[in-house]
Amino acid sequence: MKDATAQTIYLKDYQVPEFLIDKTHLVFDLNDEFCRVRSSLSIRRNPESQSSSSPLFLHGGAELELQKIEIDSAVISETDYQRTAEGLIIDQAPDNCVINIEVLIKPHLNTTMMGLYKSRTMYCTQCEAEGFRNITFYLDRPDVMSEFTTKIIADKQQFPILLSNGNPIDQGDIENGRHFATWHDPFKKPAYLFALVAGDLSVVEDSFTTCTNRNILLQIFVEEKDLNKCDHAMLSLKNSMRWDEQTYGREYDLDRFMIVAVDDFNMGAMENKGLNIFNTSAVLANPKTTTDAAFQRVEGIVAHEYFHNWSGNRVTCRDWFQLSLKEGFTVYRDSQFSADMNSPVVKRIEDVVYLRTHQFAEDAGPMSHPVQPDAYMEINNFYTLTVYEKGAEVVGMIHSLLGDEKFRQGSDLYFSRHDGQAVTIEEFVGAMEEVSGQDLKQFRRWYKQSGTPVIDVTSHYDPEAKTYNLTFEQSCPATPGQSQKKPFVIPIKFGLVGADGRDLPLNNQGDQSMVFSLYETSQTLVFENLQQPPVPSLLRGFSAPVKLNYNYSSDQLAHLMANDSDGFNRWDAGQKLSLQVLNKLIEDAKAERELVMDQQLIKVFKSLLSDHSLDPAMVNLMLQLPSEAQLHEQAEIIYVEAIHRARQFARQSIATALEQQLASTYQRLTETQDYAPEANQIGRRALRNCVLGYLMKVKTVGPELAWQQFNNASNMTDKAAALSALVNCETAQNYATQALKAFEQDYCDETLAMNLWLQVQATSQLPEGLERVQALMEHSAFNINNPNKARSLLGAFCSANPINFHNKEGSGYEFLQQQIIALNALNPQVAARLVTPLTRWKKLPEPNCQLMRDALQQIANHKGLVKDIQEIVTKSL
Ligand code: BES
Ligand code: ZN
Repeated sequence: MKDATAQTIYLKDYQVPEFLIDKTHLVFDLNDEFCRVRSSLSIRRNPESQSSSSPLFLHGGAELELQKIEIDSAVISETDYQRTAEGLIIDQAPDNCVINIEVLIKPHLNTTMMGLYKSRTMYCTQCEAEGFRNITFYLDRPDVMSEFTTKIIADKQQFPILLSNGNPIDQGDIENGRHFATWHDPFKKPAYLFALVAGDLSVVEDSFTTCTNRNILLQIFVEEKDLNKCDHAMLSLKNSMRWDEQTYGREYDLDRFMIVAVDDFNMGAMENKGLNIFNTSAVLANPKTTTDAAFQRVEGIVAHEYFHNWSGNRVTCRDWFQLSLKEGFTVYRDSQFSADMNSPVVKRIEDVVYLRTHQFAEDAGPMSHPVQPDAYMEINNFYTLTVYEKGAEVVGMIHSLLGDEKFRQGSDLYFSRHDGQAVTIEEFVGAMEEVSGQDLKQFRRWYKQSGTPVIDVTSHYDPEAKTYNLTFEQSCPATPGQSQKKPFVIPIKFGLVGADGRDLPLNNQGDQSMVFSLYETSQTLVFENLQQPPVPSLLRGFSAPVKLNYNYSSDQLAHLMANDSDGFNRWDAGQKLSLQVLNKLIEDAKAERELVMDQQLIKVFKSLLSDHSLDPAMVNLMLQLPSEAQLHEQAEIIYVEAIHRARQFARQSIATALEQQLASTYQRLTETQDYAPEANQIGRRALRNCVLGYLMKVKTVGPELAWQQFNNASNMTDKAAALSALVNCETAQNYATQALKAFEQDYCDETLAMNLWLQVQATSQLPEGLERVQALMEHSAFNINNPNKARSLLGAFCSANPINFHNKEGSGYEFLQQQIIALNALNPQVAARLVTPLTRWKKLPEPNCQLMRDALQQIANHKGLVKDIQEIVTKSL
C-alpha cells in the first residue's frame, strides 16, 4: 500500500498486453475472517504483441495471500515465480494455458473500499480503476477483456442474496447452512467492470420492454428499511433505457439489469456490467428524506451508469489515459438526458456554474491537465472535473460543429465499428470526422492542451458605413508542463440584439443566431447595414468552455437580461452584471471604504420579482449572486474576508430594498399540490427558498418564516432550506438550536438525512465554524470511515465554508491536515480528494498563503504517505 517511490505512467509508453485472458472462472468462498478466491484463467500470448518470450506478469497487491498456483493442472513451485510489490511474474508460462490461482483476502479489514470489502453487513466490490488486483492476480488493464463466470459461496442466512455480472446459471444449497450461486456474463469485459455482492437484501422489481420487444428484468437491491426509497431510481432507469433507444439507438443487451445500494462507497456509483453498484446517496430518494437536488442527482447518476453500458462497457477504454472517452461522453449523454427530462436551460446553467466554479479552478491550479492526460502517478487522481465536465463540453462542441444528424451518424459508427473493443479517444473523434467529412485535426487540441482558453472580444461600429465589426482574440494561460499553446477551434454561438430587443439578421439568409468557429489567434467578423450599434450576445448556450471577455456597460447587460432570445445568455448577462457590482464592492471592502450598493442591480432584481410571467426556476437562477467559490475562481488573489463581506453586503442591501417583493413572492409560491420532483415544482420551491434566504436578512421577518417553514414543511427540500437559513442567521440561533434538535430526533435513523444535517452545520458561515465541526466529529451521526460522512462534514467545511476554513490563525488548515493524515491509511481516495482546497494556496494573500503551504508541507513530510496524496501534494508544492 505505502509507496516510497511512486512512479509516473506515461501515455507514450503504451504497449499492447503480452498475454490475453479469454476466459475467467472465479470462485469466491466467503467466510467470516477471510475470503478464498480461486481463479482459473485461460491465457494465451497476444499475437499482436512484439515480444514472443516475455514472462507472464499478473497484477496483484501485497495483501493477497497466495496459496497455490497451477499451470495446466500442475502445481508450480516458488522458484517458478516471483512476487513484486506490484504483482506476480511467472517466467515459463506456455503460450497457451490454463492458470489456476488461489488466494486469501480479508475483505472485512479492507477500509480502502477498493476491491472486495464490507459495507455494513454486506460484501461488495469496487474494481475501477485498479481494484481487481486487490481481489486476485490478474491482467488488470482495460484492454484485456475476458468472459467471466463467477461462483459465490456463503452462509445462506447471513447472505441470502449472491450477485455477480450477467445471468444466473446455477444455484443451490450445500453443507453447513451454506449456499452458492453461479453467474455468467456472455459479454467480454475488462476486470474493472467485474462486480460481486453478497448480503441480506430486499429487492424492488420492475420490467422494461426494449425496442425489439425483449423483456428486461429490472431489480434494485437495498436494505429492507430503504424499500420505500427506490421508486425514483426505478423510474429514472426506465426513462434512461427508453431515451437511449430513441436518442442514440442503443438497446440494452442482457436479460436483467441490477442496481445495488451500498452505504460505504468512495464515489457516486459504478457501471459494472449488468450489476451497477450505487452509493445509497445516489439511488435512494423519498420526498420526506431527500431534497430536490438529491432527486435530480439520482436521476442523473442512474442514467449515467446505465448509459455506460454502451459508452464504456460495450465500447471501453484501451488504457486509463482514455478515461474521458467513456466519462466525458457519458456525462455529455446524461446531461442531454436530464435536459430532456427537465428544463434544458436550467440544466445548462447548472452545468456551467459547476464547470466555471470547479473545473476552471482545477484548470488554473497545480493539478491542471488535459482532457486526455499524458502522465499520471495515481489514476484515481484523474477522475477529475477536467476529464468529466470539460470532456463532456468537448463532446458537446463536436455535436454543435457537426449538427444533430452527423453527430448521431458518428456515434452510430463509433458504436458499431468498435463494439467489443477497447479503444482510444482518437477512434471516437475519427468516427465523427469520417461521417461528417470535417477535418478535426486542430479541434483535437481540446484533448491535448490544458488550461481554460480566454477570448477577448472588441467591437467597432462605423456610423458612416453602417458596419459593425467584432474582433475575437484567443489565448490560453500557461499551465504545468505547457507554457505555449496553439490556437483552439472554438465554436462561438452568437447573435446581435437590436435596440428594440429583437435579434438582428446576421446575413442575407436572415439568420438570427450563428455559430462562428474561431480557429486563428485573431479573427474579425464584419456585419453590414446596421442602422445602430447592436448589443452582441456572445457564446450563447455557453457554446465552448472558455472565458469570454467583452466590455459591456451595465445598461447593455440589463438590455440582454431583459431581451436576449437565448435563455442562457439572459441569465449570464445577469451574472455579469452581478459580478461587476460584486467586484467593485470587493475592491471597496479590501480598501476598507464604505460599501455602497449599486441601484441598477436592485432595479433589475425588482423587475424580476415583479414579473409573474417569468419562469420561477429562471428567476431563482437570476437572483443567485455568484457564489464565494466562483468569486474565488475569478479573483487574481483571493481576499476571503473582503469577498465574504462584499457578497453579504449585497445580499443585505437587496433584502432591505426589496422586502415587499420578496415577501409577496414567498407567499405567492406557497405550494398547494402534492410533492413531485418535477421541473415546475422544483423551480417554484427553489425560488421560494432563495427568497427566504434573502428575507433572513430582514430582522424578525425571515427567522419567523423560516421557523414556520421548518415546522410545516411536507418535504425535505423545504425543511433543509429552512434549517440552513436558520443555522446561518445570527439573530435566529434560538430557533436554529431547536430546529437542529428536532431534525436530529426525527431523522436519527435516516443516514442520508443525517448527513445533510452534518453538512448544513459544516457550512454555517457564523463564527466558530471549526469548533462546531470538531464537536460534530464526536457525534454518533459521524464516522470518518464512511466516505459520505467524511464528505458531509470535513469536505463541506473545507471546500464550502471559506470564511471559517480560511481563518487567519490557520487552524482550519491544520485541522484539514490532521484529517488527511488520519484518512491516509484508511482511505487514500477520500483523503486525496480532501486535499484540493489546500492546493489553491498560491492565490491567497499572507498570512494564509504561508499557512496553507505549511500544512501541505506537513502532509508531504508524513511517513508512509500513499501515492494518491503524494502526487497531489508534490505537484502543489
Ligand atoms: N465509472 C465511474 C465510477 C468511478 C469513478 C469508479 C472513479 C472509479 C473511480 C462512474 O461512471 C461515474 O462516473 N460516477 C460518477 C457519477 C457520474 C454521474 C458523473 C460518480 O461516482 O461521482
Ligand atoms: Zn461514469
